[in-house]
Amino acid sequence: MEVGIVGGTGALGRGLARRWLVAGVDVRLGSRDASRGQAAADELRAELPDAAGQVVGVDNLGACEAPVVVLAVPYEGLDAVLEPLAPAVEGRIVVSAVNPLAFDAHGPYNEPVAEGSVAQACAARLPGARMTAAFHSVSSTALKRLDTPLEDDVPVFGDDTEAVDAVATLANRIDGVRSYPAGALRLAAPLEGLTAVIIAVNKRHKAHVGLRLSRLTPR
Ligand SMILES: NC(=O)c1ccc[n+]([C@@H]2O[C@H](COP(=O)([O-])OP(=O)(O)OC[C@H]3O[C@@H](n4cnc5c(N)ncnc54)[C@H](OP(=O)(O)O)[C@@H]3O)[C@@H](O)[C@H]2O)c1
Repeated sequence: MEVGIVGGTGALGRGLARRWLVAGVDVRLGSRDASRGQAAADELRAELPDAAGQVVGVDNLGACEAPVVVLAVPYEGLDAVLEPLAPAVEGRIVVSAVNPLAFDAHGPYNEPVAEGSVAQACAARLPGARMTAAFHSVSSTALKRLDTPLEDDVPVFGDDTEAVDAVATLANRIDGVRSYPAGALRLAAPLEGLTAVIIAVNKRHKAHVGLRLSRLTPR
């Protein structure tokens, strides 16, 4: 199993990479600058000498050579990141973890997205991709603490059921994650929006909370 991470040098990208590497998943860590991707990959290799998975540092286009590609970049600047990737992700499974977050004096809030959700905006810009969305509320700080299993739900959204199942399988490789198909791609919007609430709660209570839906036994 191999996953590519666009924006793999960042907080979420590195956090997911750590967890997947220890679980035996290979990672292509992408960056706008391949040398930054390589530096991040070197750091992960040094930090996780016994990891069962292999990590390589590449540019964002190189990350798209994996069968599953996670978008882990800020909403701001997303269009510029996606434009050169469109031909490379034809037929590949792409997962948007992007939240339309912005911050002002009152804290986090959501930017309006004309397409309805960031996931739908990505689908419009990557028309050949098998678009899905997941990981919106998984804390990068919690991902970093490898000695503590996550206690997080990772609902996966998408209109391609095979792609959604593949992403849920990949998410479930992370210790403590409960991932499952959750609904159509457009339903990513409420989850993208919930992240601002989670950040506000974390700030107020000095916590790193995650999402857990009660009384669910996934089928
Ligand atoms: N952090 C979390 O806990 C978390 C959890 C769930 C979801 N998310 C979502 O995941 C995405 C990434 O979050 P993050 O905290 O990992 O972000 P981040 O660390 O600020 O950025 C991730 C990477 O994106 C690239 N990048 C930064 N600014 C950019 C820009 N203006 N245009 C293009 N590329 C840029 C950088 O890589 P290079 O400079 O190497 O290209 C950076 O290392 C966001 O949309 C966020 O809402 C984050």
